[in-house]
Amino acid sequence: MKYVIGIDLGTSSVKVLLMNQMGEVCSEVSRSYPLIHEKSGYSEQDPGEWIDKTVAALKELTEQFDGSAEDIQGISFSGQMHGLVLLDEEYKVLRNAILWNDTRTTEQCKQLYEMAGEKRLLEITKNPALEGFTLPKLLWVKQYEPEVFEKAAVFMLPKDYLRFKLTGRIHSEYSDAAGTLLLNAGRKMWSEEICGLTGIDVNICPPLVESHECVGTLKDEIAEKTGLSALTKVFAGGADNACGAIGSGILSDGKTLCSIGTSGVVLSYEEQNNKDFKGKVHYFNHGEENAYYTMGVTLAAGHSLSWFKDTFAEMESFDSLLAEMSEVPIGSNGLLFTPYLAGERTPYADSQIRGSFIGMDSSHNRNDFVRSVIEGITFSLNESIEIFRESGKLVDTIISIGGGAKSDAWLQIQADIFNSKIVKLSSEQGPAVGAAMLAAYGCKWYESLEACADDFITYEKTYTPIPENVKKYQELFQIYKEVYAQTRKLNEGLAGFRKK
Ligand code: XUL
Repeated sequence: MKYVIGIDLGTSSVKVLLMNQMGEVCSEVSRSYPLIHEKSGYSEQDPGEWIDKTVAALKELTEQFDGSAEDIQGISFSGQMHGLVLLDEEYKVLRNAILWNDTRTTEQCKQLYEMAGEKRLLEITKNPALEGFTLPKLLWVKQYEPEVFEKAAVFMLPKDYLRFKLTGRIHSEYSDAAGTLLLNAGRKMWSEEICGLTGIDVNICPPLVESHECVGTLKDEIAEKTGLSALTKVFAGGADNACGAIGSGILSDGKTLCSIGTSGVVLSYEEQNNKDFKGKVHYFNHGEENAYYTMGVTLAAGHSLSWFKDTFAEMESFDSLLAEMSEVPIGSNGLLFTPYLAGERTPYADSQIRGSFIGMDSSHNRNDFVRSVIEGITFSLNESIEIFRESGKLVDTIISIGGGAKSDAWLQIQADIFNSKIVKLSSEQGPAVGAAMLAAYGCKWYESLEACADDFITYEKTYTPIPENVKKYQELFQIYKEVYAQTRKLNEGLAGFRKK
């Protein structure tokens, strides 16, 4: 039997997944690492931790594996998007990585529009300037840490840095490059124009390859440390959302994904790169060659629930918290939550907005809060679905993956709030499956990713919207949508009191 490994370098942990030629998950190991929040709005990680934890996870995986190391033919990656890793000319890390959920760059986004022009930026990159994307982070370092910027010889995205440390080879690939604001998305090359207009040397951008392309093999030293063979082929991999989509079979027009990890996304496959969403949703290159996807992002989706658990129910498991929620009726007995713990992206690109609980009364208990958090996260994702529907897309079946797909109750809430059928995959393993599929396709086990999906993906269950629940949620959604406008000014006033 032959095997591949999919590595998902997430925001809270790295997960390594061993899959066999029949598309079965054979084992899974994960290791977590911390986020560094030095100031309100800052979110960083030490890239060294990604490497150490991935190597440790791979070692544990091979220790559990009873085949021979040569049977593991390929490895590929899925990674948290947008994070900036800066290396000097000796390829040493210059500072902590600045992550996708770091919102310090509002000023640089404004400068970016002044330098490149909003319209031109959108034309070339297909996306507006948002705090989470990589170029504003580069501009921030240039402005506030010029001594660091001066030494920068190359920038990398998180999983590209991990792959570099495993292979010694430097590359990026289109699906992650699309989230930098430096890629000419249509022409699939770094944009010299955007680099020129914003004062970034195009030579710090790594060479681009396709997601399924073989970029080398493992370094001897890594093979030794992990127990893998130095002949294992390494394939470029993709952005976590692209890999989540591949691993859920979002490989043709009309297919929609809801993925709830630390962030939450609603994503739709696009064959073409010339539609005009006016920057309302992200428009990125897919991990499938010459395909695209559009996507709305809730910055703190799973993060809202883990924040709630860490703050108010540290000793509870997620399962027990979610079980409590099922006892509460729709609407959480009048309690409404907005998940803007880290600002928001879609539909309000606003780094200053913060979350709220509206409607608290003394009859509420913890169960009501848990349900309102879950409902608030799901309402926020529904705002992205609303944009898709308003643009003329038919959204009637959504594949749901990630933390949000681990609870029956939450899947039914998704069906009722999204007013769409929700499909749960059997043995759902998130973006790591997409990474493993890129390795399987790269190893030429299949002639296309779609053929691979036929073996690797099976649907387990469908949740159908319940009309009376849909009606109640539609009413609540109208109230939910008002909270942003009603709390925007209040949050501006509170901004000065946040942790500095
Ligand atoms: C997408 C985004 C997040 C990260 C999470 O634009 O910022 O979904 O990819 O890892």
